[in-house]
Amino acid sequence: VTEEELSGLQWLSRERPEAMQHLLAFFRESAQHLDPKTRFLISVVTKVVNLSERGLRQYIPRAIREGATPDEVLDAILCAYPVAGLTNVIDAVQVLRSLDLDGLETASAATGEPEWVTVARGDGIAPGTASVVEARGRSVALFNVDGTYHATANACLHQGGELGCGALDGSVVTCHRHGWQFDVTTGDCMTRPGEQVQSFPARVEGGEVQILV
Ligand code: FES
Repeated sequence: VTEEELSGLQWLSRERPEAMQHLLAFFRESAQHLDPKTRFLISVVTKVVNLSERGLRQYIPRAIREGATPDEVLDAILCAYPVAGLTNVIDAVQVLRSLDLDGLETASAATGEPEWVTVARGDGIAPGTASVVEARGRSVALFNVDGTYHATANACLHQGGELGCGALDGSVVTCHRHGWQFDVTTGDCMTRPGEQVQSFPARVEGGEVQILV
């Protein structure tokens, strides 16, 4: 989804809510039986076929964050060859090589049993605001929704913008880069229904904010 298409999607949802709710329900229900990593790898294949550099830059990091390895992404790119042809495959490989994949967190960044980790003082983040914290090597967005803390992965599902730098309105954060929105209490993506950013349980213990990560 390009930025132009995205704003068009949001506009249509407002102008034609009944028609759009069927389309959005289709997105939700058609993705029920595939795990996120597989879905994003399939999206990579479609972006090779269309030779959409923007789409590749969007979906390769998302596949990596869901646990795909660079070799699996390369396999997906090569799978597109019979339809996409060699030129598209080579160009997609160039996009893959240009991405800083080492800087991306994967869904399994923190290994072992989850632990409660102190990330802030209880009064450290004002109600209605967000912040970025580190916990067990992960970058986490921490939100104070009317005095209750919520935590999600910091990287936006779109292109990795920092959700902890976004604007919080009620329980909805708007990514500061291109405006994707997420419910911080569940991680649900409002812009792409059916997709979710990882969320972490949060609590206040002994005057400290802790998250289970
Ligand atoms: S990075 Fe584009 S909306 Fe978040």
